[in-house]
Amino acid sequence: MIEAIKLTKVFSKFTAVKDLSFQVQPGEIYALLGPNGSGKSTTMRMLLGLLRPTLGTARIMEYNITSNPEDAKRVMGYVPEEPVLPERLTGYEFINYTADIWRIPRGEKREKEITELLTLLDIEDASNDLIEVYSKGMSRKISLAAALIHRPRVIILDEVQAGIDPRGAATIKEIMTGLASQGATILMSTHVLEIAEQMCDRIGIINEGQMIAEGTMDELRAQARGQSSLEEIFLTLTGGPDMQRIADYLGEVT
Ligand SMILES: Nc1ncnc2c1ncn2[C@@H]1O[C@H](COP(=O)(O)OP(=O)(O)O)[C@@H](O)[C@H]1O
Ligand SMILES: [Mg+2]
Repeated sequence: MIEAIKLTKVFSKFTAVKDLSFQVQPGEIYALLGPNGSGKSTTMRMLLGLLRPTLGTARIMEYNITSNPEDAKRVMGYVPEEPVLPERLTGYEFINYTADIWRIPRGEKREKEITELLTLLDIEDASNDLIEVYSKGMSRKISLAAALIHRPRVIILDEVQAGIDPRGAATIKEIMTGLASQGATILMSTHVLEIAEQMCDRIGIINEGQMIAEGTMDELRAQARGQSSLEEIFLTLTGGPDMQRIADYLGEVT
């Protein structure tokens, strides 16, 4: 599981994340949903032990991320918002190298798992091409394969659907649902309401570094009614006010 406990991050004087608490249970797919700059990536980087919280802490399975970051990191798989990949390796070489880093014993079993993962993600055909020729979607997928090769119990995906076509997004959803049903704890971030709705069991809406609402999509819709701030966020996330204005304008012209 993931347990964020009053996480706070202050960059010099700017508070990017403030007193943020939430839990994601094993078997659950949870979305941090919020506009750009709301603190999603910063929150994830604190959970991953990549960024030290100014205040608060987090537990990842049985480990505290502040006092026991090494054990916590071992059980996590992470796809960053903008993965930095070794362009001069082939996809297969990269996954193989990642498997070495995790000290997964070489041999037939590991080979089989790598092939399975690449096939599942639909990048097996390109696995002998250099990563530098990969499209954005393929780069995401190879990055996802690298994040999953050590079978992490906790999976953190930062805007993983960005730059991926609907088919790729469906594949990722399928894989994540499967892993969750095997007990993985999955946290994703997105600024797109639709994606959170389609891919996740529960959603936490974050704005200016603070959790403003949490629940299933149905619960959130019920909460949003009549509550102006939440309603506004929903509109922003669904491309609301501007889209409405554009539609009105077009309506007037035609
Ligand atoms: N290293 C940093 N130094 C200063 N400000 C930062 C740093 N990282 C992020 N921020 C700021 O913190 C806020 C939240 O950023 P981020 O967590 O990346 O948001 P999101 O992922 O929701 O788009 C933004 O205003 C961003 O500019
Ligand atoms: Mg981000």
